[in-house]
Amino acid sequence: MNKAKMLGKTMDIIKKYYKHSEKYPVLKHKTPETLKKEINLTITKNGTESDQLFSLLEKIALNSPKTNSKWFFNLLVGGEIMPAVMAEMLAAVLNNTMHTYKAAGIHILIEKEVLNYLLQKVGFKQGDGIFAPGWSLTNMIALVIARNEKIASIKKSWINGKKLVGYTSDQAHYSTEKFISVMGLWQQAIRTIPTDDKWKMDVKILEKYIVSDLKNGYIPFFVNATGWTTVLGAFDPLQKIAIIAKKYHLWMHVDAALGGGSLLSKKYKRLLKGIEQSDSVSRSLHKMMNIPLLAAVLLTKDKDVLQRNFNEDVDYLFQMDDKDLNPANKHIQCGRRNDALKVWTALKYLGDTGYEKRINNEFANAQYATQVIKKDKDLKLMLEPECINICFQVKGKSAEKICEKLDQEWRIKVSYGVWKWESFIRMVCVNADMTKKDIDNFFKQVKAIKI
Ligand SMILES: Cc1ncc(COP(=O)(O)O)c(C=O)c1O
Repeated sequence: MNKAKMLGKTMDIIKKYYKHSEKYPVLKHKTPETLKKEINLTITKNGTESDQLFSLLEKIALNSPKTNSKWFFNLLVGGEIMPAVMAEMLAAVLNNTMHTYKAAGIHILIEKEVLNYLLQKVGFKQGDGIFAPGWSLTNMIALVIARNEKIASIKKSWINGKKLVGYTSDQAHYSTEKFISVMGLWQQAIRTIPTDDKWKMDVKILEKYIVSDLKNGYIPFFVNATGWTTVLGAFDPLQKIAIIAKKYHLWMHVDAALGGGSLLSKKYKRLLKGIEQSDSVSRSLHKMMNIPLLAAVLLTKDKDVLQRNFNEDVDYLFQMDDKDLNPANKHIQCGRRNDALKVWTALKYLGDTGYEKRINNEFANAQYATQVIKKDKDLKLMLEPECINICFQVKGKSAEKICEKLDQEWRIKVSYGVWKWESFIRMVCVNADMTKKDIDNFFKQVKAIKI
């Protein structure tokens, strides 16, 4: 099969996938055994003939969970912006590695344009940034920079004996604890700060911990504040945390993986007030901004800090052009995929106003869902939402069982959370194309479950 025919076949599969999704917006639940029986996944010695291969790819597409469907409320990703999807496909065809201008050309300029746009939204006037393969990695890079900036000699000496400690809230994403051990520090080096009655980091306790650590010979170096927590959707008090970080010389990092999209809305950017006072911010643009996975960025206030920490002068790689045009010398990665093109495409397509409308619609849907819950005597709202994830219970029914049955009966994909031994359904209105009709449908499906 030649290239043109393969392109045609691929487009046919994509069209079939979209048609299939219209008819079946939720994937039929199948066990792994059934899937393996229906689709031959075994890799063989002699390869596979093209027609057969494309027929397998079609089956795979039609058996994939439908994250762009309006019946998908399961995670903090969803929806799609079609030109961005096309740009993602184009990036695969172009296959430019983003380490140097020589290899990636115009894509380096596109990446710079996107990073500058995002820096302005945060309020970092002169900063820098990088794309990384996943938000967790941006968090790790922030931790490494924070450590290196605190102990300038770290690159030239052993870490032994340096009792570094950092802080994050009990509602924060789990990756901070995970990466602290990757950095050669023990997991207890991250102190978990309790949250207040609104599930926001308790800053009084944060300060108490720092003072006590200093008294006991520890070196506080890092505080992670969250802009929209995973389950309960809380925003930490960034302004107050910034004051403490400044007072005790801590690197302040903001995990705006989820809530960062609010910065695109004049109405909701107030939720992240104080973010501009932090030292670094990480964002997952594949969440509120509905960019195809993955689009994770780390933004720094200091424009030289990435270069200062990750520059290595290697003549077999950086042979041409300014340092500024060769991003690999400010990154832990060398070869890197092109994630910027799809983000630039979405921004260029929608502009500031188009994106603002989408973000505001996510909030409007969440507020509508909240009203529906409040008016329904069978439902109980767990907490007043600040953002776009809504936590609620169906009175007298187990959230785990409802979610499982919704999946098995291919009604809706949604997950549950647990807080203080109570479980509840967590719906996330992250697909900006949804309307009130889709929210009504969600509750109709949930209430139809018989247990
Ligand atoms: C608060 C928070 N930060 C970070 C992440 C990780 O983001 P990603 O899934 O884009 O790696 C998540 C994931 O849901 C999250 O909830």
